[in-house]
Amino acid sequence: MNTPTSSPAAPPDQGAASTSSPLPRIAVLATGGTIAGAAPDATNTSGYQAGVVGVEQLLSVVPALSTVARIAPEQVASVDSKDMAMSLWTTLAQRVNALLAADEIDGVVITHGTDTLEETAYLLHLTVKSDKPVVLTAAMRPASALSADGPLNLLNAVTVAGHAASRGQGVLVAFNNRIHSARDVVKTSTYAVDAFHSPEIGALGWVQDGRVEYQRAVVRPHTLGTGFTIGAAWQHVEVVASYAGVSRIAVDALVAAGVRGIVVAGTGNGSIHASMQQALADAASQGIAVVRSSRVGSGHVMRNGAAADDALGFVSAGSLNPYKARVLLMLALAAGVTGPAALQKTFDTY
Ligand code: SIN
Repeated sequence: MNTPTSSPAAPPDQGAASTSSPLPRIAVLATGGTIAGAAPDATNTSGYQAGVVGVEQLLSVVPALSTVARIAPEQVASVDSKDMAMSLWTTLAQRVNALLAADEIDGVVITHGTDTLEETAYLLHLTVKSDKPVVLTAAMRPASALSADGPLNLLNAVTVAGHAASRGQGVLVAFNNRIHSARDVVKTSTYAVDAFHSPEIGALGWVQDGRVEYQRAVVRPHTLGTGFTIGAAWQHVEVVASYAGVSRIAVDALVAAGVRGIVVAGTGNGSIHASMQQALADAASQGIAVVRSSRVGSGHVMRNGAAADDALGFVSAGSLNPYKARVLLMLALAAGVTGPAALQKTFDTY
């Protein structure tokens, strides 16, 4: 256990007035999501349109932001994150890298939909080339809702991004008072305000009333410690699931479509139905990368634990869920990493 890092980011009643130490300059990049969602009435928290409230309006309902940071807002996109596209990932990652390269920017906050937040966060964790803080946040209730959670999540995210202890921690997710590592965090509820957790391992720390405290550090390489970059051509990698009675049809169709990699959301310890496993072994023998992950939602997939990876040419995803495993596999293939042994090393490292 690391020694907790604890101190207020800036006392709420002193931060804005300080002359000796100016408030951090934080870029807030809005991409849409429920945090920018609007419904016909305040009691509607499921039938709303995501990504319709602009960044200026999101900021305007949180006057306390001016006590913790100088904000530079940008509207990068206005999407429901279920529709996240690789082209937007490229735009977002390049914009984050450009902003962080500027001396006048101390950190970046990204408002995002909750549905694919964990994928975007992990992508940035591996491709941002700076040790300045990058913090994603979101909301489970639209901006128009009673007890909307977005405003406090936004204030907390900016507080975390402006805090010295957040530097060098990789990409972070600030949600419902907790600070998570992008590698670990997953969405675990379809409706609850406490929708993000880091299974097995727990949050990195917490943020409340301007105070930020870290209880542990991120140990795997990230950001400046990886060779991954945004800009190389995206590699075609898809996810399939194993379940009772599954056939080999989906895998054969993906092979015929020319995929470069397939991630399996396996049962248990990444086990795969015999029919699908044979199709995947055939795919691996043709040079397609096959990665075993699990649909369980916590734990890890042991190499050679539930399949003879050495004999079948498979890679195990360790503790990455299928969607994060897909992100890593795409980046690894784009970086020229090929073959089960080299890919396994990549998965064991990141
Ligand atoms: C989205 O992911 O954009 C919609 C759902 C949400 O943000 O909670």
